[in-house]
Amino acid sequence: MLRCMANNRAECLKDLDQVRDLYEEAFNEPVEADLVDSLRESGRIAVAIVAELDQEIVGHILFSPASIEGAKIKIAALGPVAVLPEYPGRRIGSELVQDGLDECLSLGYDAVIVLGDADFYSRFDFQSASEFGIEPQWDGIPDEAFMILELHTGVLEGVSGIAHYAPEFDDVMRQSAA
Ligand SMILES: CC(C)(COP(=O)(O)OP(=O)(O)OC[C@H]1O[C@@H](n2cnc3c(N)ncnc32)[C@H](O)[C@@H]1OP(=O)(O)O)[C@@H](O)C(=O)NCCC(=O)NCCS
Repeated sequence: MLRCMANNRAECLKDLDQVRDLYEEAFNEPVEADLVDSLRESGRIAVAIVAELDQEIVGHILFSPASIEGAKIKIAALGPVAVLPEYPGRRIGSELVQDGLDECLSLGYDAVIVLGDADFYSRFDFQSASEFGIEPQWDGIPDEAFMILELHTGVLEGVSGIAHYAPEFDDVMRQSAA
C-alpha cells in the first residue's frame, strides 16, 4: 500500500486559490468550492487543514461550528473534505480527518457530526447519529449517512434532538435535492 507522504498544516491565505481549484477538481462541480468560500467569508470555520506534497495542495478538510438543539455541548461539523483525484488511496484523506479531529479536540469541541459514507467514517469510530436520537435538520438523509463521534466518551449521554449545520450548508442541500 502507498503511504501518505503529504504534510498537513493549517490553511493560510496564500492557499485559498489552490484550495478552490482542489474542490472543483475533486467534485467536478463548484458547489463544495463555493461552500468553503462562503464559510470562510462568514467566519464559520472551526478548523481548516491542507495536505501539501511538493509544494502543491493535494488535500483539504474543513470543520465548521454546528449545534444540537437545546444541548450545551460544543459541536463541529466535518466537511467538506477532498483529495486530488490523482492521489487516491494514499491515506491523505484519512490523515486529514484524523488531524482535524485531533484539532477539534484541542479546541474544546465535544463531538463532531458528519454527513457521508459510513464505510469511510466508521474507520474513525463515527456512529450513526440516530443511535443517540440525533437527527439532521434536513429531510431525506439516509439514516446511516448522518453520523456523530464523541470526542469525550459519554458526552452525548442524555443529548438528543435536531443537529444544525452552519446556514451556508442550506444552499448545498437545496442544490443536491434539486
Ligand atoms: C473521500 C476522499 C477524501 C478519501 O481520500 P483518500 O486519500 O483517497 O482516502 P484514504 O486513502 O485515506 O482512504 C482510506 C480508505 O478509505 C477508503 N475510501 C476512500 N474514499 C472512500 C469513500 N468515499 N467511501 C468509502 N471508502 C472510501 C479507501 O478505499 C481506503 O480503503 P482501504 O484502507 O481499504 O485501502 C477522496 O476520495 C475524495 O476527495 N473524494 C472526492 C470528494 C469526496 O467525496 N469527499 C467526501 C465527501 S465531503
